[in-house]
Amino acid sequence: MINPNLMQMVINASNDGIVVAEREGRETPVIYVNPAFERLTGYTLDEILYQDCRFLQTGDRDQPGLTVVRKAMREGTSCREILRNYRKDGTPFWNELSLSTLYNEADKLTYFIGVQKDVTLQVKAQQRVAQLEAELAEVKAELAALKAAAGSNKV
Ligand SMILES: Cc1cc2nc3c(=O)[nH]c(=O)nc-3n(C[C@H](O)[C@H](O)[C@H](O)COP(=O)(O)O)c2cc1C
Repeated sequence: MINPNLMQMVINASNDGIVVAEREGRETPVIYVNPAFERLTGYTLDEILYQDCRFLQTGDRDQPGLTVVRKAMREGTSCREILRNYRKDGTPFWNELSLSTLYNEADKLTYFIGVQKDVTLQVKAQQRVAQLEAELAEVKAELAALKAAAGSNKV
């Protein structure tokens, strides 16, 4: 069995953010964040203790990923979604949130565990590929139209 000190060191050493939130009725206040969460978001544990993690969205609440997160939390299941979040200094980043549930011995859902990974570079690369694909499709369509026009002008 791993000892609690080593477990703490492992969580502290993680490159990804780790958050523990407690289920209190319909609310899920944060009771722990690791140093990687503090580095990723710019908030310290003291600043956000007992708040809900939705503060990371600021006013940006119209996101398809949030529907999935809400459903998983309602049903007490796990999920993995990419959300648009904002650091304390206001800079946006893409956050891949992996949400898991922790049941106590009485099989009661008591905690949620969130692991946060900054996937901004990957999302931006995907957006760029999608943009280039759209541009390529446009050029191909123009080329096809030019060929067709050239063909109909032949005697
Ligand atoms: C442990 C845990 C970690 C979470 N981490 C994040 C996060 O990093 N970013 C985020 O936008 N939402 C996060 N959420 C989701 C929000 O806290 C909230 O559940 C979500 O916005 C949906 O609920 P709402 O519609 O009441 O805001 C987390 C939730 C839990 C329980």
